[in-house]
Amino acid sequence: SFEVRLARSGESYIVPEDRSILQVLQEAGVDVSYSCEEGVCGTCMTGLLEGTPDHRDLFLSRADRAANTKMCLCVSRAKSSVLVLDI
Ligand code: FES
Repeated sequence: SFEVRLARSGESYIVPEDRSILQVLQEAGVDVSYSCEEGVCGTCMTGLLEGTPDHRDLFLSRADRAANTKMCLCVSRAKSSVLVLDI
C-alpha cells in the first residue's frame, strides 16, 4: 500500500494493493473525472506535486512520464511511499 495526499484539501488516504487510487478517492467522495478506467483515455490524468508514480497507463507519452508532473489515477500506482496530487 501507499499513501496519497491531496494538496488542496490536505486529506490523505491509504491505497491498498487491491484498490486503485481512483477507487479510493471515489469512495472518499473526492470528485475526480474518469472514463475508461483502463489507462487509455487520459480523463483521470492528474497533476503530481511530489512522489514517484509507477505509471501503468497507455496514455502518457515517454516525455510526460519523465517529467513526473502528472499521472493517470485509474491504473497507475506509486514507487514512493507517498504521492502528493494537485487536487
Ligand atoms: Fe481513462 Fe484513467 S479513466 S485513463
